[in-house]
Amino acid sequence: MLNFADLVKKRRSIRKFEERPVEADKLETIVRAGLMAPSSKNCTPWQFVIVDDKEILKKFSVCRDMGCKFMEGAPAAIVVLADGTKSDVWVEDASIAAVIMQLQAEDLGLGSCWMQVRNRKKEENLTTEDYIKSIINAPAEMKVECVVAVGYKLEEKKPFDDSRLQLDKVHKNTF
Ligand SMILES: Cc1cc2nc3c(=O)[nH]c(=O)nc-3n(C[C@H](O)[C@H](O)[C@H](O)COP(=O)(O)O)c2cc1C
Repeated sequence: MLNFADLVKKRRSIRKFEERPVEADKLETIVRAGLMAPSSKNCTPWQFVIVDDKEILKKFSVCRDMGCKFMEGAPAAIVVLADGTKSDVWVEDASIAAVIMQLQAEDLGLGSCWMQVRNRKKEENLTTEDYIKSIINAPAEMKVECVVAVGYKLEEKKPFDDSRLQLDKVHKNTF
């Protein structure tokens, strides 16, 4: 088992997956991790939709003109939504939950990749968010931050190399 520092280094965005399905208990472990994420005022505004329906994943893969094609080859994904009426910082809450789920996926030996939904457009008069919401029947008050693809890795990526650390971006006491 990796220690946390090594897990953080090992997590890379994986966009090629084996066809084999992800076990239901692993997907449950991932969303359970999301449900433990910190949230502002502990208002827990998020909702997660586990998707393993190939047809739905295929529809996700055309939700924008780029950056989403890999969804078609993913065996599973988690749509990360939040109730915009419950929190004015739902973006932060949803993002934190998404990243925690990505780290949990890595710890289970799975690869993952974030697909951006918020502030993106499918076409001129249709946001990516509305497109995704219509596919999964999400209620009106729900916002969609992202969809996280999950699956067994079909590509290996090198762990983050310490030599790439941008330590000049770290300041002490004053900027
Ligand atoms: C807010 C956010 C949005 C992202 N959106 C996408 C996306 O739409 N499509 C995609 O392929 N990767 C997306 N990514 C993954 C980034 O491209 C990736 O994290 C970055 O290139 C660093 O690579 P690494 O994750 O392998 O370290 C997103 C990541 C974040 C944090």
